[in-house]
Amino acid sequence: MRSRASRSGAAPSVERLAHASGFPSPSQAVITVDFLAAYDAVPETDVPRRIELLRQKTVTDKAGLFRELRAARPVFATPLGVFVTRHPDVLEVLSTPEVFTVGVLGPALEEVLGAPFVLARDGADVHWRERGYGQMVLAPEDAPRVRALTASLADAVLDAAVAGAAGRGSDTFDLIQDYACLAAARVAVEYLGFDGIPEEMLHTHSRRMQWAFAVNPGGDPDVHAAGTAAGKELHDRVAALITRRRAASAGTDGTDGPDDILGRMLRTRLPAEFGFDDERINANLVGYLTGYQQNATQCAATALKELALRPEVLAEAERAAAEPDPARFDAYVWEALRFHPFVPATPRLCVRDHVLAAGTPRRTPIPAGTPVVACLYSAMFDEDVIDAPTEFRTGRPPAHNLVLGYGAHDCVGRYAASVIIPELVRRVLLRPGIRPPAGGEQTMDYAGTPYPQHYAVAAGPVSGDR
Ligand code: HEM
Repeated sequence: MRSRASRSGAAPSVERLAHASGFPSPSQAVITVDFLAAYDAVPETDVPRRIELLRQKTVTDKAGLFRELRAARPVFATPLGVFVTRHPDVLEVLSTPEVFTVGVLGPALEEVLGAPFVLARDGADVHWRERGYGQMVLAPEDAPRVRALTASLADAVLDAAVAGAAGRGSDTFDLIQDYACLAAARVAVEYLGFDGIPEEMLHTHSRRMQWAFAVNPGGDPDVHAAGTAAGKELHDRVAALITRRRAASAGTDGTDGPDDILGRMLRTRLPAEFGFDDERINANLVGYLTGYQQNATQCAATALKELALRPEVLAEAERAAAEPDPARFDAYVWEALRFHPFVPATPRLCVRDHVLAAGTPRRTPIPAGTPVVACLYSAMFDEDVIDAPTEFRTGRPPAHNLVLGYGAHDCVGRYAASVIIPELVRRVLLRPGIRPPAGGEQTMDYAGTPYPQHYAVAAGPVSGDR
């Protein structure tokens, strides 16, 4: 297992870049450089204050922060790494894995998972080979079946949530705890193949794991320990599940077993020299869960929030939801997620001296060893690439939507994701009574975690009165 120290060993190189990227921009003249003026006024040596300023601005005015950075300092050297904020430059970072590796989050991810994984590696073996494998088992042609499965499971969970509210004498329920996380976990059981593992465990354990490797930049030991323990427990549950499945199909070709991703993996034979044994199947299955469960849950809630915040858009989306072909509806969900993506930024480690944005006014040499933050959210609002970026518009070019990542590590589960997320939202919009209350559209409770945990919605009529 690689050491966690490699994640933080690059800070001095970052400091060498400070002030190296004050580029002129056509729009700079009209921008009030509020944040940068305050940031630059803090001495370069006062790292904690600079980080705190950045953190505060990210929390209070993320859109404003990135608008200012794109215009005035699009490649922004900070003590946390170099923030890359413009669309072409984010694409360059994410599609150059031989220079920008996943070495920032990879070590923690592998410790949490207890094994190598695609999103923790670059290069030929685990990354490209197992990415190809992932693409094969998470097959695009599953999409219609996964959509229908999501619809029926989601409807049942919604019925129970509405009935539960009625039983409590309440006119609201919690869209996240009573609906999204449960429906997503049931899809994980049925489609990925986690049968016999409690839904509650699939959700809480994947949250602990994701928190530990993806949003624990300070390396909080308690968060890391909780993620590692959760990963170990899921590994052990899946090992027992694989043993059960192997025993049940002994002496057969396995084709009469469950038609889910685990079943597909157990039936797949790769050349022995690949060393793809049941432990690799286990690591991939648990890895897929961590790539999916929190993402799907949060996306269902934040997409609904972004639609509800725009009543005219919501009305159009409701009409599209009722059409037999969901394609027009889906576009509303992906555009909504552009405003609140699950992964607003992803870190990479520059492992070779590299000139970013060469041949443009943003040209910046990045020294080997520098952590780089590819700001996906910012790129999706790049005024020089995206037409009227602050307007809600369906039908934008697909490359302008980076919600499922981009390049060498973009989402290998995108075909499943592309039907599961919209369908989770669509099932809600098909019930006019279930909506965030007026004035409460924005009210998401994170409950001290990095992910929204509670989102109150009106309960609507019980099943049958939809
Ligand atoms: C449901 C909503 C989903 C969202 C929003 C989402 C988002 C993303 C994003 C943004 C990345 C890129 C990460 C990076 O560049 O650092 C990614 C990668 C990945 N996703 Fe998803 N994902 C979703 C669903 C899924 C599903 C259903 C699976 C598998 C069952 C999955 C498995 C993966 C894997 C394995 C990677 C890493 C690929 C690689 O390293 O080459 N995701 N996802």
